[in-house]
Amino acid sequence: MLTTSGITKIFPGVKALQHVDFRLFPGEIHTLMGQNGAGKSTLINVLTGVLQPDTGTMHLGGKVIAFGSPQDAEAAGVRTLYQEVNLCPNLSVAENIFAGRQPKRFGAIHWSDIKQRAQAALARLDVSLDVSRSLDAYPIAVQQMVAIARALSVDARVLILDEPTSSLDDGEVAQLFKILRHLKQSGIAILFVTHFIEQTYAISDRITVMRNGEREGEYLARDLPPDQLVAKMVGHERMSERLRKADEHQEAHEAQEAQEAHEAHEAHEAQEARPPSPSAPPPFIELRGIGRRGSMQPIDLDLHPGRILGLAGLLGSGRTETARLLFGADRADSGTILIEGRPVRLRSPRDAVGHGIGYCAEDRKKEGIVAELSIRENILLALQARRGWWRKISRPRAHELADLWIERLGIKAADADQPIGLLSGGNQQKALLARWLATDPKLLILDEPTRGIDVAAKFDIMDRLLALCANGLSILFISSEISEVLRVSHRVAVLRDRRKIAEVAGTASNEDNIYRLIAGSGE
Ligand SMILES: Nc1ncnc2c1ncn2[C@@H]1O[C@H](COP(=O)(O)OP(=O)(O)OP(=O)(O)O)[C@@H](O)[C@H]1O
Ligand SMILES: [Mg+2]
Repeated sequence: MLTTSGITKIFPGVKALQHVDFRLFPGEIHTLMGQNGAGKSTLINVLTGVLQPDTGTMHLGGKVIAFGSPQDAEAAGVRTLYQEVNLCPNLSVAENIFAGRQPKRFGAIHWSDIKQRAQAALARLDVSLDVSRSLDAYPIAVQQMVAIARALSVDARVLILDEPTSSLDDGEVAQLFKILRHLKQSGIAILFVTHFIEQTYAISDRITVMRNGEREGEYLARDLPPDQLVAKMVGHERMSERLRKADEHQEAHEAQEAQEAHEAHEAHEAQEARPPSPSAPPPFIELRGIGRRGSMQPIDLDLHPGRILGLAGLLGSGRTETARLLFGADRADSGTILIEGRPVRLRSPRDAVGHGIGYCAEDRKKEGIVAELSIRENILLALQARRGWWRKISRPRAHELADLWIERLGIKAADADQPIGLLSGGNQQKALLARWLATDPKLLILDEPTRGIDVAAKFDIMDRLLALCANGLSILFISSEISEVLRVSHRVAVLRDRRKIAEVAGTASNEDNIYRLIAGSGE
């Protein structure tokens, strides 16, 4: 249905695509995989007329094509859902679905038509919303469904989705996959980008692996086991280094557990009436009955230095609300907060930052990156704010710090002076994390920190966080992936319907139990 041959795209300092041959068949679901910065989004942008390739040719249905713009691609039946939700937050849901192609009768825009069609488009996704409400009234996952409805609202021959599931929960992903399978039956060619290995195998017929701007290979999903897929994405040298690190990590973790078990045992021997977790240092921050009417029921949480507390729960269970209260982004209307035993007031993010709290937010576009500023400026933003704008970080120091974090987190950038908007999605996410790590926080709130980050980088980042933790950093870790929460957290607080329903550690913190708690039947 769609092929490219010899596509090359060079940006200043970066060969984003080099001689890429790619083919997409009708009636298949084809997944494009590769590390952050491998060239996936660039290839999609070329396929959809957002970018013009430097060299190479494309065919659609056997005919040579050269899309001068996304509108050309749309007109030819190539529909796209880009990596960043590209909707207008202050327009209504219905307007977002039909913006630019309102049904007109006698030249006038027909509101009732638009609303009805928007409802129908959403109904295909089993979503029912008030389509006349403004889009930003809904959480990001719902906005994503609206973007999908928009992409599907017109007949398509090719449907391209760049990381559509990164903000969806399991149920929503299942729903989307159902729709994709249905579309595939009708002969549409579907190209999908994701960093989730399980999802790749759940849905793909074929996989193309990209590495450093080149096509590494094309495989039938059933012929390529997951470990080989990862090896092909990261390259073989990288892979063996990774495995060595994983072993070290495992050993260190086991040693720490043995040590803690030993200490616990000794403490128990020495004196029965010790606090329950003798090795946990006193909390850095304690929330006592912190809540906000209409958004979060009063909650108690203790965050200890050197510990990671996970927050598990479905979308809308109050995870982000809790984070925002802790960061002063929303004001609590009940309860108290103690920092190192003393009551404090967190009336604004500025207060929170002043107390050494960092918040890496879920929606990197809205609350995160400033696209026009350079990578360096973005990384130093929180540190500069914390010092006060009148105490400017010196130039050499700024260069040194930014370079340090770019290196530590493996941010793939031609140069730190580039506008951050030019980085690949996953690299922007890493820069956002660097921003908060650069402030040397005592508590770091991470809301879906690994969204859009490739598998290998995910492990690197988690390693780095655990190392910082060993030096006394406290982390509140939020992720929709329960397995990820369990892997990194010392304790897990489970939320449901905007209240904390349990806190588990040790043997109770296993996936089954947490799912049961979330579903309302766990102990
Ligand atoms: N407009 C641009 N100007 C300069 N460099 C760019 C531009 N767009 C992309 N790049 C660079 O091209 C490379 C490939 O980026 P691309 O966005 O295609 O990666 P990706 O595979 O989609 O990664 P991710 O998984 O992080 O989304 C990156 O190094 C990126 O910084
Ligand atoms: Mg991308």
